[in-house]
Amino acid sequence: MKIMHVDASAKRERSNSRALSQHFLERLREEGLDIEVDYLDVTVDTPPHVSEAFAIATYTPLDERTPAMKATLAASDALCKRLLDADALVFAMPMYNWSMPSVFKAFVDSITRTGLTYVFTDDGRIEGRLARQKVLFITSRGADLRAGSPYSSMDALTPALKAAFGFLGVADPTFVDAQPLQFSDQAARIEALERARTELAAVAAHWVNPAKSEPASASELNNDVMALSQE
Ligand SMILES: Cc1cc2nc3c(=O)[nH]c(=O)nc-3n(C[C@H](O)[C@H](O)[C@H](O)COP(=O)(O)O)c2cc1C
Repeated sequence: MKIMHVDASAKRERSNSRALSQHFLERLREEGLDIEVDYLDVTVDTPPHVSEAFAIATYTPLDERTPAMKATLAASDALCKRLLDADALVFAMPMYNWSMPSVFKAFVDSITRTGLTYVFTDDGRIEGRLARQKVLFITSRGADLRAGSPYSSMDALTPALKAAFGFLGVADPTFVDAQPLQFSDQAARIEALERARTELAAVAAHWVNPAKSEPASASELNNDVMALSQE
């Protein structure tokens, strides 16, 4: 399986989202899956912000683009190809100010491309081209934004990711959200990381053998972990 793995935390060795995405890939290998990883650290290779030249070139039909427009779009073209070539996409990121890190938003702006990652069909619909790929979002959050928490209404990250990738054809992405990792006591942080690892193990098992395992249901897994921790 060819996996494009993208990390987006400003932190490096101390990053929880990076550690969790690495853990997930290790789990896939442990499960015996043969994986080829195409790695992108968007904090190092950050796609440029949308410029005027990009905004004009991207909506100019292919056969009307000047050499300068083609040059403007070249890096974005290459990024789209990497996504389209992959069988699965693993995106790991922290929540920053209730949404995605700006480097990941720059990535989204680079990979949302007419004629590449989405197309207009003959009957006038827009069709995303990433419908084939399995997609996993691993997010890390300082607060607890799960249902029932005072912060639950402030989650602008999950809907933004669902909208951006839904437009590209990703109908049913998987989310593993590690929370709370900062605004809580130590026990709650440890439990949040354990819960995330348990969910990732279930997702890995499902990717390796969809027939034998059920898709990971975050709420079911959460209940299991909570039941264990109460014993
Ligand atoms: C600039 C910045 C903004 C943050 N904003 C939020 C936020 O809005 N909500 C939240 O729950 N946590 C927020 N956090 C906390 C991080 O999401 C949390 O510590 C996360 O675990 C970091 O992931 P990492 O270890 O992969 O970097 C913020 C952290 C930073 C550095």
